Amino acid sequence: MTKKILILPGDGIGPEITAEAARVLGALGLGFEMETALLGGAAVDATGEPYPEATQKLAAEADAVLLGAVGGPKWDTLPREKRPERGLLSIRKHLNLFANLRPAILYPELANASTLKPEIVSGLDILIVRELTGDIYFGQPLGIRERRGERFGFNTMRYTDTEIRRIGRVAFEAARKRNKKLCSVDKMNVLETTQLWRDVMNELAPEYPDVTLSHMLVDNAAMQLVRAPRQFDVLVTGNMFGDILSDEASMLTGSIGMLPSASLDENDKGLYEPSHGSAPDIAGQDVANPLATILSAAMLLRYTFNEEEAARRVEDAVEKVLAQGFRTGDIFEAGMTKVGTRQMGEAVLAALG
Ligand code: IPM
Ligand code: MG
Repeated sequence: MTKKILILPGDGIGPEITAEAARVLGALGLGFEMETALLGGAAVDATGEPYPEATQKLAAEADAVLLGAVGGPKWDTLPREKRPERGLLSIRKHLNLFANLRPAILYPELANASTLKPEIVSGLDILIVRELTGDIYFGQPLGIRERRGERFGFNTMRYTDTEIRRIGRVAFEAARKRNKKLCSVDKMNVLETTQLWRDVMNELAPEYPDVTLSHMLVDNAAMQLVRAPRQFDVLVTGNMFGDILSDEASMLTGSIGMLPSASLDENDKGLYEPSHGSAPDIAGQDVANPLATILSAAMLLRYTFNEEEAARRVEDAVEKVLAQGFRTGDIFEAGMTKVGTRQMGEAVLAALG
């Protein structure tokens, strides 16, 4: 079997951080075929489209995609369909990547990076399972119109029971492999769509008797995440609530530069990307933290290629470089060794053993 990985460096710091992750993947000796293509602002500049046909073809052929980040102020004034973010939404939809896994893990070495008290966040290990191809992000109709001299904007929150069931199953399965606690987040006190969400989650529960299912309204979940985040094991929610809660959860760790993500289809083909953005302000300076992208590569090994041992090897190497005191600027503390993007990549390569 060929093992094709498509690398999409994207914009801003994307090229620097994906280069380090690609070096790590290459060093594992697993015979990956790696190709690079354009997505986001870089693609708009070169072809006029954020998700050009050439990239679509390579993405369809690849087993896994490793993405840096897209976007930047340069493209913010373009029409919506030409913006880098549209490239990201399009590739998610095109590849049917409905299951977005966003872990928020606090590394003991980085406990001081969190703005929350250590006793609240120490040992934090949450997995957010976010539905990624439905909801108000993609629901029709949508638009900005004018009637009787007044403009109005509208989007449609929409889920079918099939969509809810398939993401529910991913979440139950994930909880089964962890601490067997699943909290489903909705707004059923106001929104019909999420009443259906809650009903379908309850319908699934008897199939997973070993997993404890609970429900929480999204406003309360936002509060509980900062009040007592360790009550959570796996959270499952829709596209928009998941977007917001995953940013909140990532900040519990204080180091968004450390958090990977995976977006999977029904057959574990996946797109892997760091949870952070393209950070245009520090692009090209060799200062960005490549660890979230390297950890995304570890998720790629685990979920798409079932290479658990190699995934662990990469994750262990990351923990080792932290223990050795190597820090990029975003996670730097006095007494540690400050390194750039490339040096951090090299330290991980050396630690692979
Ligand atoms: C994310 C991002 C995207 C989203 C944007 C860039 C379209 O915020 O991956 O969380 O809203 O899904
Ligand atoms: Mg987001």
